[in-house]
Parts: sequence; C-alpha cells; structure tokens
Amino acid sequence: MKIALAQFRPEFGESDRNIERLLRLCKENPADLYILPELAYTGYQFVSQEEVHALADSVHSRRIEAFRNAAKELDACLIFGFPELAGAVIYNSALAVLSDGREYLYRKTHLFYKETLYFSPGDTGFPVFEYRGARIGMAICFDWFFPESFRTLALKGADIIAHCSNLVLPYCQTADFAAAVQNRVFIATVNRVGAEQREDEQLAFTGESVLVSPKGEYLLRGPIEDEAVLVAEIDPEAARNKSINPYNEVFKMRRPGMYTLQ
Ligand code: ACM
Repeated sequence: MKIALAQFRPEFGESDRNIERLLRLCKENPADLYILPELAYTGYQFVSQEEVHALADSVHSRRIEAFRNAAKELDACLIFGFPELAGAVIYNSALAVLSDGREYLYRKTHLFYKETLYFSPGDTGFPVFEYRGARIGMAICFDWFFPESFRTLALKGADIIAHCSNLVLPYCQTADFAAAVQNRVFIATVNRVGAEQREDEQLAFTGESVLVSPKGEYLLRGPIEDEAVLVAEIDPEAARNKSINPYNEVFKMRRPGMYTLQ
C-alpha cells in the first residue's frame, strides 16, 4: 500500500482556497491512502464559539463533497480533519472517504487546551476499517497522549494508525517510536506547519510528520517548517505479527486482570 502524508499549512479561515490547494497537492502525488492534518482546511486557533460555528461543516456540506470527489478521482482513501457541525454540536472530527463510497467518521476523544471551549468531546470511539488489504485506525492529535487510544486501535486490529494532527508540543514524533513498538503497528502522524497569531496568543505547529514502522523505524520524516507530501510503500501485514520472540506474543500475553487499581 502506498501511503501519503500531506503536511500542510492552511491559511486561517480560508477553507475553500485551502481545500483547493490541499487536494491539488494530493493529486500531484499518487497513493492509495492520503492522511491529512487535524482541522486540515480551516486553521486551528479559534477565538470564539461563533467563529467555530461559522467555519464548521456538516458531513453533507459541499466542502466535504469535494473530498469525496477527490477520493474517487484519485482512486484512493483520504482521511482529513475538520470541524464537524452535527445539529447544535461541533466536534473536532476526522473523516475517511474511500474511492468505493464508504466513509468512516471519528470524533476526537481527548480535546487539547482551548479546544475544550469550542468542541464537544467525541462520542464515536476509535474506528478501524479495511481498505486494499490494510486495516486503518483513526485518531486525532492529543489522543496520542493517552496510551489507551493507540492501544485500543491496535487491539481492534489496526495495522496503520492514521493520526491527523496539529501538534504544538515537542514530544509526539519521538513518543510514536514507543507506541509503534509496543503495539507493533505503523503510526502515521501527519502534522501541519506554520504559526497562527490570533488575538494575543501565538501557536506554532511543529511539522515533522512521521511514519514509524512496527519495529520503530522512521520510514518518513517531514520538514519542520515547510509543506510536503511524503510517500512510502508499506506492507500492512508487517503489523500483524505481535511476537517479539518465540516466547513473547505481546498481545496474547497481556494480563488485564493485573492492570486493575485494587
Ligand atoms: C492537539 O491536540 N491539537 C495538540
């Protein structure tokens, strides 16, 4: 499976222009699976509920339709983050749109910093779906800080964790090594680049999107400041062997009964 990590710098609030440019970048780099950042086309640093509401899209909106059309045109699966308007509620969501018309929605479980002011905590749990022989799991940014997130996806059978991100802390790209090795999965952390100055606060995003193998090899690592579409061929089957030696099959030897607080 050819996997593309689309590291991008959206211009805050310029959704249509960002989508056009983002999809053009994807079309220049053929792949089976494209992973895009969290809140891929709106920007990140909202300053009011009204602003989030104005920029949020329902899954039925024409903007989301543009991604569906791109999945068909590219004959691929696209996973991208967006602010999801769902009735009166707004989630920080990621949607996977597949060339065969299927789609899978994930709503961010662990909200970071001021996201807690503007978004509702996700209610979907962590989805895993199959595409072209690969089992793909979905997570968003700060979810990584909670080891249960990637563990749950791995226990549900994910070979690849599509981790749409807007990282501002310096840890995740390094921590992915441990998460990939412990869970014996591929992790694709796809980050954005650039900085946003809104009102009196600036947030700088750390770039450096990474693809890590189940053995902890960094197969891809993006630049810190520039946009880039990084492509690698992976064999998803490499994530299915959970043995680290003939005596230790790390998923079978888990002991949940010993992990209680009593
Ligand atoms: C984050 O969850 N965007 C850090």
